[in-house]
Amino acid sequence: MSDYTPTPADRFSFGLWTVGWGAQDVFGSATRPPLDPVEAVHKLAELGAHGVNFHDEDVIPFGTSDGERDKLIARFKEALSATGVVVTTATTNLFSHPIFKDGGFTANDRAVRRFAIAKVARNLDLAAELGAPTYVMWGGREGAESGASKDVAAALDRYKEAVDVLCQYVREQGYDIRFALEPKPNEPRGDILLPTIGHALAFISSLDEPDRVGLNPEIGHEEMAGLNFAHGIAQAMWHGKLYHIDLNGQHGPRFDQDLRFGAGNLRGAFWTVDALETGGYAGPRHFDYKPPRTEDIDGVWETAKACMRNYLILKAKVDAFRADPEVTEALALARVPELSEPTLAPGETLADLRAESVDVEGLARKGMAFERLDQLAMEHLLGVR
Ligand code: GCO
Ligand code: MN
Ligand code: MN
Repeated sequence: MSDYTPTPADRFSFGLWTVGWGAQDVFGSATRPPLDPVEAVHKLAELGAHGVNFHDEDVIPFGTSDGERDKLIARFKEALSATGVVVTTATTNLFSHPIFKDGGFTANDRAVRRFAIAKVARNLDLAAELGAPTYVMWGGREGAESGASKDVAAALDRYKEAVDVLCQYVREQGYDIRFALEPKPNEPRGDILLPTIGHALAFISSLDEPDRVGLNPEIGHEEMAGLNFAHGIAQAMWHGKLYHIDLNGQHGPRFDQDLRFGAGNLRGAFWTVDALETGGYAGPRHFDYKPPRTEDIDGVWETAKACMRNYLILKAKVDAFRADPEVTEALALARVPELSEPTLAPGETLADLRAESVDVEGLARKGMAFERLDQLAMEHLLGVR
């Protein structure tokens, strides 16, 4: 039996801002000293991770001079080549600096919007240089706290304009980069634009280059909105739009907890792993969480190990569930395979269907046997099968 030790073949990746979070929150200052991104890369490699994801400011603090910027990039690249860790994804910080208090792409102030687009373009150059195939756009400050302050239709026009301009830039530069929008319902804004997977999917269809843009959904964000994450990513995959994923843990609708993967809604995590592994998701298994404020750096590394270990444990449980002959039988009783059969037979018309006589009472009486199937999943998860 596996000891659930991760290797780069598992394609686990971490945001540098996750293990590097100093744990400052709205009520208190940092409880941990800053973590050098170079040290983070080395330690993550030692723990078996395959990749990292960074915001421009995780590597190059805001306002760094050009000369200093080059040195920081060179050090970072050295750490990557020394460890074999790859840059799976990059993103832009359009939320920390006070200039972004009303957002980046959708700020009412046009000068701020122009600055935001330029900041993303600059970091896209670095992302391309480091070989990142996916560029995440999390619009944490794109939103509002009050009604009249944001003209939502105009804000969506400006959001589209920014994404269109950046898609065009990537295409013209010949960069092999796709964008992944990350939905979130609220926090830090009272209400954020593109709050859920569904809103973001609809937005993508309005873009000039919809094929270059997909999603980076996060477990906690959908669960903050009371939604079923496994269903959300299954739909994203159905549209061919699950470009990347942020795995973490959340206890239902409340503030964004960003717990380590597997904490919070454990059954949700089981079905998430099932959806990814059986749905053909090919991207990195990426963790976006925040080691709690109670932990020192040793505790931080415990959480990083736990994210990967929990994924591997859940993957083993999902594989066992899917391979269990009793599950196959229960799936058949629940008529799950039947849902893959088209409702009309080949060549059949709506008139044929309407002419058919239906045993309405008989069909209504017949139970679906879903509880037996779900109990089997529960017992696999609880480790008694
Ligand atoms: C959050 C977000 C962020 C983004 C990150 C990448 O709620 O804090 O999930 O962690 O994922 O900024 O853009
Ligand atoms: Mn989050
Ligand atoms: Mn995230």
